[in-house]
Amino acid sequence: MKVTVVGAGNVGATCADVLAYREIANEVVLLDIKEGFAEGKALDIWEKSPINLYDTRTVGSTNDYSKTANSDVVVITSGLPRKPGMSRDDLIATNAGIVKTVTENIVKHSPNTIIIIVSNPLDVMTYCAYLTSKFPANRVFGMAGILDTARYRAFLATELNVSPKDIQAVLMGGHGDTMVPLPRYTTVGGIPVTELISKDKLDAIIERTKVGGGEIVKLLGTSAWYAPGAAAAQMVEAIIRDQKRVFPVCAWLQGEYGMKDIYLGVPVILGKNGIEKIIELQLNADEKAMLEESANHVKDVMKVLDTMNV
Ligand code: NAI
Ligand code: 2OP
Repeated sequence: MKVTVVGAGNVGATCADVLAYREIANEVVLLDIKEGFAEGKALDIWEKSPINLYDTRTVGSTNDYSKTANSDVVVITSGLPRKPGMSRDDLIATNAGIVKTVTENIVKHSPNTIIIIVSNPLDVMTYCAYLTSKFPANRVFGMAGILDTARYRAFLATELNVSPKDIQAVLMGGHGDTMVPLPRYTTVGGIPVTELISKDKLDAIIERTKVGGGEIVKLLGTSAWYAPGAAAAQMVEAIIRDQKRVFPVCAWLQGEYGMKDIYLGVPVILGKNGIEKIIELQLNADEKAMLEESANHVKDVMKVLDTMNV
């Protein structure tokens, strides 16, 4: 199986590394616009193979899309990351142009591929790739929910002093400060989380999760990459190995949750066909209201893209 990762920066190179050392694909092509950058990263990952013991071939490319031909899955991470003081939405003007051009090139060389978007603002860049590719929506979706849920699970694991492996959770909505963590669907080894933690502490963790991306930006001066790169690789794995994993994914809604023509984070089943099913939870009135608020925010940014005529 062949996977292309576009953007050999922090997130893209991390994703390619995870795909290689976990032998998720036979070949990983890393492509970037910066001369020699992807080749250098791909070579470094290949030179690590005798140490970490994997045989995934890693190939670098400076904007030569012929090397990406017939990829089974493509992960798009190209674009600016945010700097302190910026919101993800501030990136739309630059990143929409990049995502559009990249998607056009990908489609030309891999007309049957599945596209996973990582570039921000996530929900709207996924919409941009959907419009550009003209692929069916089960083959164009975005990574955010796995990352946001992982942050929530990690914070809970620290607070409860338990393994993060035992925390299961669902988080919905847009990839922004209006995201909707769902305590009713959060368990620790099968035990409802509300039996193990006070309301105040859980509320504080939910608030920290919503601004989890910004917390890293403040510390590093740029956005996160280890967790985002691994999250994108986990989605690739679910597709390539047809695992039917249940993940929160930024998906195109056509009536689900009472919403239409919008990309939003919802739980889905991921397998060899991409999104194989959108799971509809029975949300209560409060949860529905929070999801609608998040959707309204995403819709506003989608309208900005529509008026940009990208
Ligand atoms: P980075 O700056 O380290 O890497 C971006 C790379 O894209 C650079 O190497 C750049 O040369 C390349 N690039 C720019 N234009 C290109 C083009 N036309 N074709 C090919 N490559 C091109 O940034 P980083 O940290 O890797 O973040 C990448 C994107 O992912 C950002 O938009 C960031 O906001 C987003 N992100 C999204 C997350 C999510 O949960 N969805 C999580 C973390 C980051
Ligand atoms: C994150 O959540 C910035 O979207 C990026 O880390």
